[in-house]
Amino acid sequence: MTKRILSGVQPSGALTLGNYLGALKNWQSLQENHDCLFCIVNLHAITVPVEPDALRKQTLEIAATYLACGIDPVQSHIFVQSHVPAHAELGWVLGCKTPMGWLNRMTQFKDKAGKHKEKASLGLYGYPTLQAADILLYQADGVPVGDDQKQHIELTRDIAMSVNSAYGKDLFTVPEPMIEKTAARIMSLRDGTKKMSKSDPSDFSRLNLTDSADEIRLKIKKAKTDSGPLPETLEGLKDRPEAKNLVAIFASLSKQSEEDVCRQYAGAPFSVFKPDLADLAVEVLAPTGESIKKYLKETSELERHLKRGADYANEIAEKTLKDVFETIGFLPRL
Ligand code: AMP
Ligand code: TRP
Repeated sequence: MTKRILSGVQPSGALTLGNYLGALKNWQSLQENHDCLFCIVNLHAITVPVEPDALRKQTLEIAATYLACGIDPVQSHIFVQSHVPAHAELGWVLGCKTPMGWLNRMTQFKDKAGKHKEKASLGLYGYPTLQAADILLYQADGVPVGDDQKQHIELTRDIAMSVNSAYGKDLFTVPEPMIEKTAARIMSLRDGTKKMSKSDPSDFSRLNLTDSADEIRLKIKKAKTDSGPLPETLEGLKDRPEAKNLVAIFASLSKQSEEDVCRQYAGAPFSVFKPDLADLAVEVLAPTGESIKKYLKETSELERHLKRGADYANEIAEKTLKDVFETIGFLPRL
């Protein structure tokens, strides 16, 4: 039977090279032989403050980005999370089935809430149980994400197994995380120990999928490095986080291994490596940026794909939700 894939991105700003290499690039190849659902998780986006107009705009931008990154909206299904009410409903149920002790271990909450934990919303704290609902509603077999989401997928598996065992029935498929090795965690261009993120205050820390060729070249030129040349082997990148990150980006963009990139550039200074990396990044990202702009010019096509995706998603999600409601003892609605 065709395996089902589900993944999602928050509409919380323009996507970065990290999102592309860590997640979206893999989605594109998976759609050839999987039943794929790709969600724009706007319920997750409101766990932190966001302006309504910005949220609307960013939701369409993510839809445009999905298509520009090669997601085929006929072969795969793209949809907005709030267009499928079952996410919020199952999210509530799973919240009631998840011990607080499990949520207290989640590092994303600790990172996002920071020092002001008391001011963080209940939604931010319960974020992982909503994410579990996103995945379990569709009985997804695999969840392609970057390394930072591994803990949330592990939690989803724990919730699925514990609910299945509590009711003595396979209500949920236990999903597998699918994490690419080379680009699991793309780091900031300014600090090789920090994740590249769309919320970093410095725009020079990241490549955005909408950056122009000139911006891409300038950011790579200014990217932090050390003074050594590139090593012959991966071993030589140990304790050189910025150099290691640039090699990983080169490898992932050119679909080679990091070892191959080291062999190719052994002994070369960054003044030789960086222009080649910039050419490669422009070659991949510049057309994507153009394509995003094109889709956003006429949004009726995007809206049509989102409607079709939501219809498909609702059909699957309602079935799971009905089964869950019956199993936990809710009276059926007549
Ligand atoms: P987010 O932007 O947090 O909604 O993330 C969307 C997807 O991109 C998730 O699968 C993340 O794991 C992935 N992702 C985000 N940042 C990075 C990064 N710097 N490196 C690799 N994957 C990432
Ligand atoms: N939490 C994910 C992130 O920040 C986004 C997300 C929400 C997600 N629901 C999901 C990812 C379901 C995969 C599957 O990147």
